[in-house]
Amino acid sequence: MKKILINGGKKLHGKIDVSGMKNAALPIIFACILTGKKCVLDNIPDVTDVNLSLKILEDMGAEVIRISRNTVSVDTEKLNGMTSRHDLVSRLRASTYLLGAELGRFGEARVGFSGGCDFGVRPIDQHQKGFEALGAKVTVENGCNRVVAGPQGLRGGSVYLDIASVGATINVMLAAVLADGKTTIDNAAREPHIVDLANFLNMCGAKITGAGTSFIKITGVTELHGCEYTIIPDMIEAGTYMVAAAAAGGRVTVSGVIPKHMETVTAKLIEMGVSVDEDEDFITVTSNGKLRGVNIKTYFYPGFPTDMQPQFGALLAAADGTSIITEGVFDNRFRYADELAKMGAEINVLGRNASIVGKKKLSGAPVTAVDLRAGAAMIIAGLAAEGKTEISQIEIIERGYDDIVGKLRGVGADIRLVDDGA
Ligand code: UD1
Repeated sequence: MKKILINGGKKLHGKIDVSGMKNAALPIIFACILTGKKCVLDNIPDVTDVNLSLKILEDMGAEVIRISRNTVSVDTEKLNGMTSRHDLVSRLRASTYLLGAELGRFGEARVGFSGGCDFGVRPIDQHQKGFEALGAKVTVENGCNRVVAGPQGLRGGSVYLDIASVGATINVMLAAVLADGKTTIDNAAREPHIVDLANFLNMCGAKITGAGTSFIKITGVTELHGCEYTIIPDMIEAGTYMVAAAAAGGRVTVSGVIPKHMETVTAKLIEMGVSVDEDEDFITVTSNGKLRGVNIKTYFYPGFPTDMQPQFGALLAAADGTSIITEGVFDNRFRYADELAKMGAEINVLGRNASIVGKKKLSGAPVTAVDLRAGAAMIIAGLAAEGKTEISQIEIIERGYDDIVGKLRGVGADIRLVDDGA
């Protein structure tokens, strides 16, 4: 069994290079299906969710060539629709993007139920509503979501999303780029990875405007071509290292970031008394480990990202005073609270709210990574704590962090990965 071991209390100094954004790479990989051509993707993070997505496509007949560690070529010319393996798609939330991409290219899709982190119920009713607005019929058959275009093929339509869902916005965009006529998405998600997907598709010949605002317009085209595309930097990975530096103390430069994407994280760290200096593509965090408690409310972009909530939970557990976190996106995103409590944190959860009474020091303990960002929170708590922390179930962390142990060791953390073979 693989574990991460941390000897806490070491200050961090140096530079960490940020990898490409997992949540942008995933839809872009599935969007390659729509081109039926070869696409070369640069700045692909080496994380298991991405590698699993590539494996799903390869298994469906795509030619996937790893040109270098972070560059991959994906040729979907010979891909077969509706043949994705259930055992693979069930391990990944982003496999729902197969629905939009297959529907767009083949006029129908059949995909097993997706998996991913457990944050409570994660319905896809908004994705389905979007497909129906394009004239498709949505059913559940033999443990699969099935979507079939109308007899005339997919037609552009108007979609109003009840929730500014990232996944639904992406799936409607994927289905609409090759549909006949204009599609509009109102109350669309505005996350940077929506913009990245639109930029990729437009580079392949799609006609998408408005990505990054809540109103996206897509004019269908008859075909797409391949392209070479560089994925944007991962704002959540960058934020995680900024919080790690704030928690452990020291001075860390997080390099290769888009500072605009980091504004909410930067503002909260400054409010907590941390010094944050921005430049064109790097951010330096300086902390003496003395932190003020703050209140946080997560919300859809440009609100405070729910994917940074657990990391801040760990940081606030060692800050002065009482902090309140309100989770505005998911029903159940405090599963890490019990793990943090094992390290001495005083954290009380009531529904979508948590109150945290800061302690001077957390103490190392054996804990579990209950989901991806919760795992990152355990690492942050372990870096700030006195003594040894042992984190199990770390495969969950490897789903979304490219070499997190190596990157933290590079700035002086006493952290290592062990595999006892059990
Ligand atoms: C994506 C991200 C995830 C991030 C989340 C919010 C990926 C692979 N995952 O997840 O890391 O935490 O955005 O930024 O990119 N909802 C519905 N009906 C739907 C769709 C969503 O009710 O049809 C609800 C969800 O239950 C949730 C909220 O909308 O409460 C947001 O979900 P959504 O934005 O769709 O998140 P994901 O795409 O699943």
